[in-house]
Amino acid sequence: MPGLFLTLEGIEGSGKSTQAVRLADALAAEGHSVVRTREPGGTPLAERIRHVVLDAKQEPVLPETELLLFLAARAQHVRAHIRPALAEGRIVVCDRFTDATLAYQGGGRRVEPEALSRLCEWAAGGLWPDRTYLLDLPVETGVERARERPSGFGVDRMERQGNDFLESVRREYLAIARAHPNRVMVLDGSQGADSLAETILSDVKSRLAGR
Ligand code: TMP
Repeated sequence: MPGLFLTLEGIEGSGKSTQAVRLADALAAEGHSVVRTREPGGTPLAERIRHVVLDAKQEPVLPETELLLFLAARAQHVRAHIRPALAEGRIVVCDRFTDATLAYQGGGRRVEPEALSRLCEWAAGGLWPDRTYLLDLPVETGVERARERPSGFGVDRMERQGNDFLESVRREYLAIARAHPNRVMVLDGSQGADSLAETILSDVKSRLAGR
């Protein structure tokens, strides 16, 4: 693949969405062809699945159902949007990807690891990010920040899971980073947005220079 696939990960309130915007804008300002997208979402159908899976006003969603909805959105997003952009040599900046499924559905919901890893691989068609920025911070800090958002924390179904759930998600994210030290860069998400943006941009630039 001639393009570069970058993802941002972290728990609620980690600042990853802000960093996705800043990174995409900074790279575009330097003349790169950039696509910024998100999961679940990124295509009209995947955005509709997002609405369904995050809707808090519905029957209890079982872990298997939830997993398949996130993966259905990803299957569409990868094939209809991400792969074509990478094939054109563009830089794709994606807010969450497979690591989110491993952390939330694996660490959080405890979906059986072997099935989870096989299904994740299949849904993404074997696509993995070239580089992942994990914005790590204490759960309380993230939740507090997310509460201050205009949309309000706790509005969607995943945000109602509580701090113990997010602790498991955070632990799983860190385990993924330890298992893939060359792909996943762990950053202190409690630091200021400017210094984070600078660190991430300079890392991307060094990757681009090394190609
Ligand atoms: P966002 O608010 O960062 O856009 O993410 C939406 C929510 O969906 C967030 O609580 C994390 C969750 N999520 C999963 O549980 N599994 C996944 O595979 C993805 C992509 C997101």
